[in-house]
Amino acid sequence: MTDLLDVHNLTVRFGVRRKGGMFARQTYLTAVDDISFTVRKGETLAIVGESGSGKTTAALAIARLVSGVTSGKVELEGRDILPLDRDDLKDMRQKVQVIFQDPYSSLNPRKRAEDIVREPLDSLTDKSDPEKREIVDQLFKAVGLRPEQKRLFPHQFSGGQRQRIGIARALSTQPEVIICDEPVSALDVAVQAQILNLLRRLQAEYGLTYLFISHDLGVVQHMCDSVAVMYMGKIVEHADRMSLFNKPLHPYTEALLSAVPSVDPRLRENARRILIPGDPPDPLNLPKGCRFASRCPVAAPECRESAPSLDAVTPSHRVACHLVEGETSPLATLSAS
Ligand SMILES: Nc1ncnc2c1ncn2[C@@H]1O[C@H](COP(=O)(O)OP(=O)(O)O)[C@@H](O)[C@H]1O
Ligand code: SF4
Ligand SMILES: [Mg+2]
Repeated sequence: MTDLLDVHNLTVRFGVRRKGGMFARQTYLTAVDDISFTVRKGETLAIVGESGSGKTTAALAIARLVSGVTSGKVELEGRDILPLDRDDLKDMRQKVQVIFQDPYSSLNPRKRAEDIVREPLDSLTDKSDPEKREIVDQLFKAVGLRPEQKRLFPHQFSGGQRQRIGIARALSTQPEVIICDEPVSALDVAVQAQILNLLRRLQAEYGLTYLFISHDLGVVQHMCDSVAVMYMGKIVEHADRMSLFNKPLHPYTEALLSAVPSVDPRLRENARRILIPGDPPDPLNLPKGCRFASRCPVAAPECRESAPSLDAVTPSHRVACHLVEGETSPLATLSAS
């Protein structure tokens, strides 16, 4: 399989005003800090991390939907999309679509479902009216909505059905890449499974490539080929699915994983919940060393001195932690001693 999306050293900063005494002063918040990854055609990369880790900002930057990119490249089929001007951007927007977290706020309440699904075709393509109608009809069928539902407004649908409308809209321009930003987080568990199954089926049917964002490793475990774990704007671990779930190396990944209920009862019995104490650092005042040091159960003096780099331990597994030795996690060393 070939690389479809190549993100190189992407950094996104927002100008914010910070209160200081009587005066607010302008400063910068680095929401995404020098991240790099590759997604192959037809595959799913999950980006996982707690709220505030920079997932949405990274997604919006990759879709050219946020300003504030200060450096880096986002290559789609080998072409950097960050410098594109208006006409080329139109072409790129057909190829990269987004499904948003909240199916309540991301759909225009005054538009009928068929017009919502049709909107990207109107704004990005030159297709004729009959062609657009045909595509909308097919998409309603593909996402499991009934033809008579085309004329309804968003408030007449359930949460799961609304997300189906959002998925149909994202599919309308036959994109290569779909960025799914927490697409099931606002839904009930039973409905989550239906939407995840639908996304998987559509991926197989249309050969889609997904960037799948979630704060919950449990949601992505049956949904991804590889996982990048983010913490405070940085990728701290990135591995193929098997390695990440079976051999996590970063203490933060281990803590996130320990919160995922296991379906295997033997694993459930042996599981120990790793609690992450304390709060993340202030994003406007990040420490010079490892950003996880204030919460890491094995932090050593060197961790506060210098930031660990994201290094490969195998060809498909990278981790940023000073205390990883070979393929052994520092928490494994701790529990053995
Ligand atoms: N438009 C913005 N202006 C200023 N700060 C922002 C903006 N959007 C996000 N942030 C900040 O960037 C950081 C990352 O946010 P976000 O990308 O939404 O994280 P996540 O999706 O992982 O929850 C947070 O500290 C957030 O407050
Ligand atoms: S570098 Fe140190 S503080 Fe950071 S995760 Fe590794 S052990 Fe913990
Ligand atoms: Mg988010």
